[in-house]
Amino acid sequence: MAIIGAGRLASFLAMALHGAGFMITEIVTRDLPGSGRSARSLAARVGAHAVTAASAALDATLLWFCVPDSAIRRAASDLATRIAAITDVKKTRAPNREKEVRNRVQTKPRFAFHSSGALASRELDPLRGAGVAVASVHPLMTFVAGARPNLAGVPFAIEGDNTAQRVARQIVHALGGKSFSLPAPRKAAYHAWATLTSPLLLAFLVTLEEAARTAGFTREDARRKSLPILHQTLANYARLGPARSFSGPLIRGDAETVEKHLAVLKKHLGAREVYVALARAALRGLPVKNRNRLERLLRVR
Ligand SMILES: NC(=O)c1ccc[n+]([C@@H]2O[C@H](COP(=O)([O-])OP(=O)(O)OC[C@H]3O[C@@H](n4cnc5c(N)ncnc54)[C@H](OP(=O)(O)O)[C@@H]3O)[C@@H](O)[C@H]2O)c1
Repeated sequence: MAIIGAGRLASFLAMALHGAGFMITEIVTRDLPGSGRSARSLAARVGAHAVTAASAALDATLLWFCVPDSAIRRAASDLATRIAAITDVKKTRAPNREKEVRNRVQTKPRFAFHSSGALASRELDPLRGAGVAVASVHPLMTFVAGARPNLAGVPFAIEGDNTAQRVARQIVHALGGKSFSLPAPRKAAYHAWATLTSPLLLAFLVTLEEAARTAGFTREDARRKSLPILHQTLANYARLGPARSFSGPLIRGDAETVEKHLAVLKKHLGAREVYVALARAALRGLPVKNRNRLERLLRVR
């Protein structure tokens, strides 16, 4: 396999694939000083070569794009051009071996994946045009430097050409993950949900620290003090479901308490905005008492 990119997902995935026995031949990055450094460091860890699109041998069976969503099509186009250039050079330099070379080139690369949750496999059309079977393979997991999530049971959303999907499922299985089919028209909505599960959960946690600061706590102290209740809430949610895990002033119908919160948060409009949005979400999806009074209180003017 060749991995395109050397960022968060690429760093994790290259190690995980290497650990599962797949051979990583190349880490392909842009021709920029910082990009080269990350690629060399990752390549050294998995026994691969760090290359750019212009110098890649592309002797892998599978190309796995781990670049920002907005860069996938361009990167695919660059590598399609590179595949064509390699084919041409081989034909020119060894015309008598043209048949043999053409056969070799036809066997690799045969598949290309990207891992965008929002975009479909059609982003890889430049490679599809070069005879490569393509798929989108999105792990519903967060990857950041300094953490190595366990992939056991992690769902992977798969979409694309049949042969590429089949290969993707085998690889996901080898990594311990669980594949499921996600048709292209559902991807954007799926990814809006996925973004709420981790990136926007983090945005909520940062807002929570902000709210704690209004009560005179430092961010670090707030983080430490809130971890036990956060852990318990998640454990309850997993075991009991949302409604039976719900406690606090809304389920009790304590409108005066909510009124006090809204008043004190007037000094921190960002935290107030999130509080109001989530309290309204609770009115929509969770059991609350004193609903009419709370609805009036939470009407945003
Ligand atoms: N991180 C996650 O939790 C996660 C989870 C699921 C799916 N994904 C998906 O994985 C993909 C990558 O996300 P990420 O979080 O790993 O991003 P990232 O950490 O920002 O890494 C992106 C990498 O792509 C490289 N890059 C940018 N443009 C390039 C180009 N034209 N050619 C080659 N390399 C290029 C960047 O290198 P330089 O900028 O240094 O050149 C960097 O190494 C996205 O499609 C994302 O949706 C990510």
